[in-house]
Amino acid sequence: MPNESPLQSQTPDALMLFGFWYRALPANQLRSGELAKTMLLEQPLVVGRDRQGQAFALRDACPHRGMPLSCGQFDGQQIECSYHGWRFDAHSGQCQLIPSLVSEQSLKIDRIYAGSYPCEERDDFIWVFVPDPGPAGAGFSKSGPAPIPAPVIPKFSEHYKLAYLTADLPCSVDHGIIGLMDPAHGPFVHQAWWWRTRKSIHEKHKNFEPIPYGFRMSAHTPSSNSAPYKLLRFYADADSITTTIDFVLPNLRSEIIRAGKYWFSSLTTVTPITRNQCRIDVVAAWNLFRWLPFGPQLLKFVFAKFVEQDRRTMELQSEGLKHNPHLMLIDDADRPAKWYFGLKSAMLEMKKTGGEFKHPMSGPVTLKWRS
Ligand code: FES
Ligand SMILES: [Fe+2]
Repeated sequence: MPNESPLQSQTPDALMLFGFWYRALPANQLRSGELAKTMLLEQPLVVGRDRQGQAFALRDACPHRGMPLSCGQFDGQQIECSYHGWRFDAHSGQCQLIPSLVSEQSLKIDRIYAGSYPCEERDDFIWVFVPDPGPAGAGFSKSGPAPIPAPVIPKFSEHYKLAYLTADLPCSVDHGIIGLMDPAHGPFVHQAWWWRTRKSIHEKHKNFEPIPYGFRMSAHTPSSNSAPYKLLRFYADADSITTTIDFVLPNLRSEIIRAGKYWFSSLTTVTPITRNQCRIDVVAAWNLFRWLPFGPQLLKFVFAKFVEQDRRTMELQSEGLKHNPHLMLIDDADRPAKWYFGLKSAMLEMKKTGGEFKHPMSGPVTLKWRS
């Protein structure tokens, strides 16, 4: 079909990938004894922190009659539903008390569970594992542990700094992710007099290779337009700087820049909240600028500006997308986006058939574009 839209035809029906860890909220937004309401993959969650500071996540719907547990009372250990007072252990979700029962009623309350999710704190964020499909046995059985640990930011020295940025994007996770990996929008969206102008567009050649469930832009001298690179040049000569950028399902983009003993490492995620809403979180760790008073602020300023430009762009784009236009993915600038859709279909296929993961890339390739 000549007019078939590659974007639409390659977008799987299920827009969200279950069975992965997702960032739920910044760790500093939750103090001991507090609850926060949030949503991941259209599942309502109540995330909290117990008396010891340990984070937990439950489905935000009481197994009795669906009242959001986030409306209940939390004593730092158990959540009491605000409707009929059932009490649940915050971590396991196991029912501890049903106040309406009289002594001769033998309902086994310890067999009742509010759906609980594996929850871990990593690099200033609370991560929640969203199992496949939905929380296993919400209501009557215990949820299992996550099969894999939550992702971490690679770090290369004992001392480092950490900072994050977050922004809500009014679009599907797919548009969020392909917007993130799209090299061609840079000169148009990310213009600034102190950064770059349209005139700085030039031809680029980048090598990519397949990695498990993702792809890597192979170690190379970073683009002269890359933010940390411009700052890194103060520390090391350009030839000694290398960068590696990985994308791995479901939504992880990691970038590692190394220059001798200095390093900068970031993990950016685009998290599906609902089908039409996602959130970008950039968390960076580095050992640069430790003695330079304005370094981190400068870096944060640059990133905040970029993320805001992307957010604004996607806000405007969502206006156009409402009318369901035909869309295109073109060579080579949109090739990473095609790989993303290929990876996602392969993952869904693997989950469906239980077969092998069929990676969309057969080997290393060089892509060329102007940006
Ligand atoms: S709805 Fe929660 S106790 Fe009844
Ligand atoms: Fe961007």
